Amino acid sequence: MSQKLIYPATERNKQPILDILKLYLPSDRETNLLEISSGSGQHVSFFAEHFPNIIFQPSEYDSTLFKSIEAYIKPFANILQPIHIDVTTDYKNWQLRSEQYEFILNVNMIHITPYKCTQGLFNNAQHVLKPNGMLITYGPYANNGIIEPESNVRFNQSLRHSDPEWGLRDIQDLKILAMECGLELLQIHNMPSNNKMLIWRKISE
Ligand SMILES: C[S@@+](CC[C@H](N)C(=O)[O-])C[C@H]1O[C@@H](n2cnc3c(N)ncnc32)[C@H](O)[C@@H]1O
Repeated sequence: MSQKLIYPATERNKQPILDILKLYLPSDRETNLLEISSGSGQHVSFFAEHFPNIIFQPSEYDSTLFKSIEAYIKPFANILQPIHIDVTTDYKNWQLRSEQYEFILNVNMIHITPYKCTQGLFNNAQHVLKPNGMLITYGPYANNGIIEPESNVRFNQSLRHSDPEWGLRDIQDLKILAMECGLELLQIHNMPSNNKMLIWRKISE
């Protein structure tokens, strides 16, 4: 039996996310990307196929997902074995194989975890990213205190019902957090199903 888990939402959003990644990730030189919260491994295997010049480092908090990630990445020489990362812990305790990364990718984690995970993501990103490196986040967000459309309002309510610490984060709050961590918001891309892809850049000294 295949170990590969299939998340329907991940299957649907992988092509639109790839289309945006192509605007920022190079195709003509070697570089590296750390994925936080790789989930099933569907994303990392799909993206690595399109960027053979990039070394991808998948990671997961939930170690029961490692078998699925390993099954997806098997055919790819440019994907390293997954490592365990709890984003609320200090990056010095992560088993990173590179000192720094040009890109960090994080899809659909920020709203489905307590806010301390978002804080951990941004706090650690400032150290793990190379100067001018980018943190790329994807998911549904509030903006200026407004959640829209109505389907996202209901989604936010259902998240908070599952766990009061979960919920859509406001882009304006994230901008403040980012600034405290030496990152700036470079671009907001509107994505299908009322999601957004946010491009954050590490401000180089
Ligand atoms: C909705 S899933 C998204 C998975 C994948 N990125 C995708 O889009 O298919 C949310 C992910 O957040 C991860 N997560 C939860 N707590 C975490 C933590 N403290 N540190 C890092 N990841 C965490 C979960 O293990 C899960 O894989």
